[in-house]
Amino acid sequence: MPNPTKKKPKNAKIAGEETDSKLISIRMPAGMIQKLRGVAGKKGDMGYQQLIKSYIKQGLTEDSGQPAEIPGPAGAAPLSKSKSAKPSGKRANAAALADSEVIREDIRSIAAHLKPYYSFFSGKTFLITGAYGFLGRYMVHLLKYLNEEVLDKKVRALLLDNFVTGYEQRVISDRNLVFHRHNVINPFSTNEEVDYIIHAAGIASPAYYTKYPIETMDVGTVGTRHMLELAYKKNVSGFLFTSSSEVYGDPDPKHVPTNEEYYGNVSITGPRSCYDESKRFGETMCLAFWRTFNVPVKIVRPFNVYGPGIRPDDYRVLPNFIEHALRKEPLPIHGDGRNTRSFCYISDAIEAIFRVLFAKESGEYFNIGNPAPEISVRDLAYVVRDALPYKVDVVNIDPPHAVYASSDPKRRCPDISKLQKITGFKPKVSLEEGVRRTIRWFSEL
Ligand SMILES: NC(=O)c1ccc[n+]([C@@H]2O[C@H](COP(=O)([O-])OP(=O)(O)OC[C@H]3O[C@@H](n4cnc5c(N)ncnc54)[C@H](O)[C@@H]3O)[C@@H](O)[C@H]2O)c1
Repeated sequence: MPNPTKKKPKNAKIAGEETDSKLISIRMPAGMIQKLRGVAGKKGDMGYQQLIKSYIKQGLTEDSGQPAEIPGPAGAAPLSKSKSAKPSGKRANAAALADSEVIREDIRSIAAHLKPYYSFFSGKTFLITGAYGFLGRYMVHLLKYLNEEVLDKKVRALLLDNFVTGYEQRVISDRNLVFHRHNVINPFSTNEEVDYIIHAAGIASPAYYTKYPIETMDVGTVGTRHMLELAYKKNVSGFLFTSSSEVYGDPDPKHVPTNEEYYGNVSITGPRSCYDESKRFGETMCLAFWRTFNVPVKIVRPFNVYGPGIRPDDYRVLPNFIEHALRKEPLPIHGDGRNTRSFCYISDAIEAIFRVLFAKESGEYFNIGNPAPEISVRDLAYVVRDALPYKVDVVNIDPPHAVYASSDPKRRCPDISKLQKITGFKPKVSLEEGVRRTIRWFSEL
């Protein structure tokens, strides 16, 4: 709780409350990303960030609770609110965020792999928090596709986001998929029946959770509690919490690949702790609601999900490499690049999430990821380089922030045998293929 006797420092800001949060609530006009890339190419990353910030300041509009107009390029009319608006020419670049062939292919593939589960969607109502983030938006695309192409009895969904890191430009909303601007640290009420809740709101990128540590803790703790209470009131059939592989911290090498029973090696006070500890607490609360009130909770711990739709300015390692690659700049490795990760392509992650949500087992927690390969950051840079039609260098740089330096976990690789055994899930997209698809999407922007 804020201390009322302590004077608020002049520039203290709470995200979601006022200006600074809006700095990352982006409405990016057509062509802007390309323009930013061009200038950033001359000025380096800082120039890129400054430009994004200055643009976002101009691009702000009032909180309306509805998808708002997207400002057009200087001198042009704004893009229409109407979903039937079909931007053309340069404007189509902005629409690519919402309407990409790579994403459409992924959605068709996820839907095909989830065929045995169609009855779990049919006529049901979902509530998804963080619905316009990277993972959330794929889920929304999937529901939209099922409504348009597959189901007789449509899915309904309540889609919640406060855009602290989501793109407002990516709002999909129609008669059945209904958007609510809502900060989940406040209770949410609805008269509708709700069958499934997916609590995917979170501040997932180290670049943002170090900037917004309090909001990060709140969404994982207070936000989770509000969603669990709603799940209890609505007597839902399933509640899924997106936790994180970060609950394992920097695992002891004896526990890599890491299975779900490993307790973790997590700093309480380090720069990552706001995220890691809030996910750990969120999990504990989910299990308390399961044990006390029988709320059918399921917990997933995603390991480095990547793919089309991830924020280009997210600063996680893959988007960061790809952003540099597309500017034909050297790929920057923080430190010696020997730390390892295991990357999971988005379509695999989304399929796994729904398999867990619909599993009959409750009170369970699952790693979600692709263990093969466990790859060093240096070798990952070469995978990106090899996927390009031109040559770029790979360079080592000093980590720009403590969150990427000593506290960066050294190894990350999931043991997914529990997920495989209980849900039958198998990863399908290789790292090389996933990187090619992600580069294709970034090139469309
Ligand atoms: N992408 C990964 O590799 C990964 C790995 C581990 C865990 N996760 C978890 O999965 C979830 C989704 O991740 P993502 O990559 O899509 O992240 P993301 O940042 O792209 O999306 C999260 C969304 O949550 C919204 N949000 C944040 N705080 C909110 C609040 N208080 N109220 C309402 N909305 C809020 C953001 O605006 C954003 O749209 C997160 O909880 C994240 O911690 C993701």
